[in-house]
Amino acid sequence: MSETNWARPKDSEHPVWPVHRGRIIDYLAGRFNHKIYLEIGIHNGANFNSLQHPFRRKVGVDPDPLASPVTYRCKSDTFFELSPDKYDLIFIDGLHEHKQVYKDVRNALACLSAGGTVVMHDCNPPSEAHQRVPREQFFWTGDTWRALLRLREDPSLHIEVIDTDYGVGIVRVGGQKKLPLESWRMSYSAFDMGRKHFLNLKPHTLIRGEDVDWDADGS
Ligand SMILES: C[S@@+](CC[C@H](N)C(=O)[O-])C[C@H]1O[C@@H](n2cnc3c(N)ncnc32)[C@H](O)[C@@H]1O
Repeated sequence: MSETNWARPKDSEHPVWPVHRGRIIDYLAGRFNHKIYLEIGIHNGANFNSLQHPFRRKVGVDPDPLASPVTYRCKSDTFFELSPDKYDLIFIDGLHEHKQVYKDVRNALACLSAGGTVVMHDCNPPSEAHQRVPREQFFWTGDTWRALLRLREDPSLHIEVIDTDYGVGIVRVGGQKKLPLESWRMSYSAFDMGRKHFLNLKPHTLIRGEDVDWDADGS
């Protein structure tokens, strides 16, 4: 986020979310008794520092010299290549280009503990401009949604996206009804028309109500 050629909006222009991504992470960590946390993409630690769940260990990865707090100052690819450790909950929020996000999630799944959870930020762009690559504006989800759709083609996973904070994707081992192959290549306008289905989008109230059926079919 250090190379910017767009104006930083005033605080009053920032969206206000009914549920912050950090509260979803706290909720999942409590529900599944997760103890070891990894965050890819730290920036100023807004999410990392906000977590309330009593993790035994928290690890942050970011190549930006200004990012903080960072445990490993490197790109996610380098980190995953070198790290032998297992993690219970991995939050993917690094480079928001679909090939990199997909790779980050696959690498995360490979070092996930049994019963672990991968969380993906920025899966539900509110407009075409928000998701355009290369980035054109401050508020930017990138085309993370394409990585999410590609993961929804894998029947060994269960995926849903909580409709808050630009879309918080939850990826666990499961048996989802998969999307047709190559769905992730569709145009933004096709995605926009069917996003509820493609993302398996769920209202944020499910998190508050604690009645999410994580093992249900993801259709
Ligand atoms: C949107 S910010 C992260 C925000 C933070 N997760 C939060 O919720 O408060 C994205 C961060 O990803 C970092 N980043 C960019 N490319 C990366 C890569 N290849 N590997 C890991 N982090 C990367 C950037 O330096 C930036 O700090």
